[in-house]
Amino acid sequence: DASDIEKGTYPHYMLKEIDEQPLVMRKIVQNYQDENGALEVDSDIVKAMNNADRIYIIAAGTSYHAGLVGKQFIEKLAEIPVEVHISSEFGYNMPLLSQKPLFVFISQSGETADSRQVLVQVKEMGHKALTITNVAGSTLSREADYTLLLHAGPEIAVASTKAYTAQLAVLAILADVTAKSRGINAEFDLVQELGIVANAMEVLCDAKEDFESIAREYLAVTRNCFFIGRGIDFYVGLEGALKLKEISYIQAEGFAGGELKHGTIALIEEGTPVIAIATQDFVNLSIRGNVKEVAARGANPCIISMEGLEMDGDRFVIPEVNSLLTPLISVIPMQLISYYAALHRDCDVDKPRNLAKSVTVE
Ligand code: G6P
Repeated sequence: DASDIEKGTYPHYMLKEIDEQPLVMRKIVQNYQDENGALEVDSDIVKAMNNADRIYIIAAGTSYHAGLVGKQFIEKLAEIPVEVHISSEFGYNMPLLSQKPLFVFISQSGETADSRQVLVQVKEMGHKALTITNVAGSTLSREADYTLLLHAGPEIAVASTKAYTAQLAVLAILADVTAKSRGINAEFDLVQELGIVANAMEVLCDAKEDFESIAREYLAVTRNCFFIGRGIDFYVGLEGALKLKEISYIQAEGFAGGELKHGTIALIEEGTPVIAIATQDFVNLSIRGNVKEVAARGANPCIISMEGLEMDGDRFVIPEVNSLLTPLISVIPMQLISYYAALHRDCDVDKPRNLAKSVTVE
C-alpha cells in the first residue's frame, strides 16, 4: 500500500525507485544464488523450459518491452525459440502454437486483466504457464504452474522503472540457468556481469544533472520526440518512448533505426528531438547513419552511446557492460530524461493523468 511506503527525502516515488535499481540487482542475484554462489532456478521451471519447443511470452506495457529483450536472452543463451505477444491481442489473434509450448507471463503487479484472460485460456488448453511477477500471491502467480519473483520491492509510481530492470535480470538468470542445464556454456559469468551492471547503474543514478540538462535542452517545449535504435537498442527505445509519453505527455515513438525513413521521417522538422541509443558494436555505424538522415532534415539528435563505441558529439556515454545486458543500463537515461522532462513541464510524475498502476479491466 502506497501510504505505508516512505518516499524519504525523495520528491517522487519514481525517482526513489529509479535510484533503487542497483540495490534491486544485488538483491535479485542473492535471491537466485545457491549456497555455493551459483545461480539457481527451481528445477521444475528449468524442466518446463527444456520440455518446451517454443516459449510464448505474454505481457502488457512495460512488461511487454521487457519480454522483447527477454526473447533475446532466451534465444541467444538457451537456444529455445521465443515469441513475444501483447496480452490484449493474443486471446483473439492467437498464432499457430507449437507442439510443446510454454507460456511465460511477465507482470509487475500480477493482476493485469488482459494477461489473466490469456492465462485462463491457455490453462484450459492444457498448457503450462510460468509467471514472472513482483507480487507473491498475485492472481497471475496463483493461477500459473510456476512463479519467479522479481524481488524489486513495492513499485508505487505508475511509470514502471525498477520492475523493468528486475524483469530483465530475472529473465537473464532464467536464460542462463536453462542454458547451463542444456550443456550450453555461456562465455560469461552472469553473477559477475550483473555486479558490473549494478555498478554501472550507480554511475548513471549519480549523473542526474546530465539527464536534467538533456531534458531541459531537448524536451522542455517540444511537441514530439523520436527514439531510435537497432536490435536490443530498439526495444529500449520503445520503453523510452513509453516512459516519456506516460509522464510528460510528449507524443513519443520508438523506431527501429532503419524504419523511420520509411514514412515517419516526414514528421521530422527543424529541432525535432531524436534520441538515438548506440550500445551495439555491430550496428554502431548503421544507427549513426540513421542519425545523419534525420539530422539532415533538421532533427536535433541526442546520441546515448556506450563506452568503447562513443564518437564525437555523443550527448552521453554509458559505462560498458556485457553487450547482451545493455538494456539494463541504457534504460536508466531514458527513465531519468523522462522524469526531468515531466518536471520541466509541471506534470504529476507519480500519478499521470488517465493511467492506473495496474489495469484490472479488459
Ligand atoms: C499498466 C501500467 C504500466 C504497466 C502495465 C502492465 O498499464 O500503467 O506501467 O507496464 O499496466 O502492468 P503489469 O503489472 O502487468 O506489468
